[in-house]
Amino acid sequence: MSIADVLVDDRTEEEKQRQKIPARYEPEDNWRSPIKLFRGIQDSLLSIMPIEGFREPMVLKETPIANILFLFDPDGLRHVLMDHVEDYPKSPLQQRFLKPALGEGMLTSEGESWRMQRHAANPSFRAEQLTELVPAMIAGIEDRFAVWRADNGNVTYEARSEMMELIIEILCQALFSGIKVDRKALGQAVSAYVDRIGQVDIFDFLNLPTWIPAPKFRQIKWSIDYLKGETDRISKARRAQSPMPSDLLTSLIHARDEQTGKGYTEEQLKDTIATLLSAGFETTANAMTMTMYLLCEYPWAAEKIREEAREVLGDRTPVAGDIKNLKFTRMVLEESMRLYPPSSIVIRVAAKDDVICGQKIKKGTTIAVSQYVLHRHEKLWDNPDVFDPYRFSPENKKDRHRFAYMPFSIGPRGCIGSSFAMMETTLAIAMMMREFEVYRVDDDPVEFQLRISLRIKNPLPIVIKPRAAAQKAAE
Ligand code: HEM
Repeated sequence: MSIADVLVDDRTEEEKQRQKIPARYEPEDNWRSPIKLFRGIQDSLLSIMPIEGFREPMVLKETPIANILFLFDPDGLRHVLMDHVEDYPKSPLQQRFLKPALGEGMLTSEGESWRMQRHAANPSFRAEQLTELVPAMIAGIEDRFAVWRADNGNVTYEARSEMMELIIEILCQALFSGIKVDRKALGQAVSAYVDRIGQVDIFDFLNLPTWIPAPKFRQIKWSIDYLKGETDRISKARRAQSPMPSDLLTSLIHARDEQTGKGYTEEQLKDTIATLLSAGFETTANAMTMTMYLLCEYPWAAEKIREEAREVLGDRTPVAGDIKNLKFTRMVLEESMRLYPPSSIVIRVAAKDDVICGQKIKKGTTIAVSQYVLHRHEKLWDNPDVFDPYRFSPENKKDRHRFAYMPFSIGPRGCIGSSFAMMETTLAIAMMMREFEVYRVDDDPVEFQLRISLRIKNPLPIVIKPRAAAQKAAE
């Protein structure tokens, strides 16, 4: 081989792109300066992540306000989230922010109230049961596709807003079909609430009793009132429907806890509607946005999804049984949620003194688990910043510690909607790639912000063009 040959870059376009690193949050050593730390977390909770966390199993920070253990050791995570879950309840601070809108719903309740709600709802969220919701999910997807078809690639959309429109359509169809809802207004109310409560300010550090409302609630009272008004209206409208359509809400109305035979009270049902809308909306829309961003950056992956969608779905409407065959689509989604976990922080508080992986923990210590750091931990992942969906091939997945990857958290308080989310996003992405070309209109740098969920900070303009139109334009 001559020197000239060695200098020829004969990697395929796909190989080159595989080495390209997608946008990432540049961690800073903010813990050195309390002012920098405080300024940082007002903008994004990612600023609180200690820089050592990307290589150490845990980092303990002792402050006058609280002791915080940042935990990234998979065995330690199993200890807190699974084996000793009752010793690590949710933090009162977190509950204070969520309860004004979500009341005593599944995400915010503890003890017997949580147990009853979760046990009663579990069967409705099992993958086999959810297959019945696939036509409703597809109806939601098709509603949004109709807009993109009509715009015919002539409109530039903001990626996150557009994915929010898509997800709220799907949620409304699958949760409470047939009830008229102003989806835009509902989406805006949930989004404004989640955005503001995830923005830390000085009052959050005052350790006020939980019954004192945080001042930020005054600014978002309208969104709480709107959400409460809508959940009340939706639950009344559903009770008045006869027969009730078979969707998630009807399933929850009929749900019973096997142990006690108890079902949801009217209040719990309303709180649950608000909870499902909040927990299932932003997270999923952000997962879709980040996946769109990645597919624009890595056209080879978009092309592979397209080929898979054509092979599995052909030109027909998908059915539930197709989802398991959209394997590469799922691998891309899993890699997208590794790089950009929509829920990037889970917080618990130690209810008693304990020892986690040899580290003594005092009662009251806050345990902070950041999926963003865990999923890029040097000891757990090779080339953690590189986009590589093949990490999630069945072969590569099988030896990985279960707690090294947890976009939906794990354990009894893990996400009840994980199968729902995987189904809707797998279908939406495969159907999108089959029919549309998606591309960015600029190459501005992408930055992130962690409020309650991880999201793109700056607008991401994209075009979603029907492939037939895109092909015609190319000819
Ligand atoms: C990509 C999308 C999603 C992600 C990344 C996600 C992530 C999570 C995480 C990490 C938790 C645990 C929170 C904690 O322990 O503090 C959680 C809980 C929860 N999620 Fe999701 N979620 C998603 C979609 C959904 C959907 C679609 C629904 C419902 C339709 C849903 C409903 C819930 C509920 C009700 C809980 C509380 C469970 C309990 O405490 O028992 N989520 N989710």
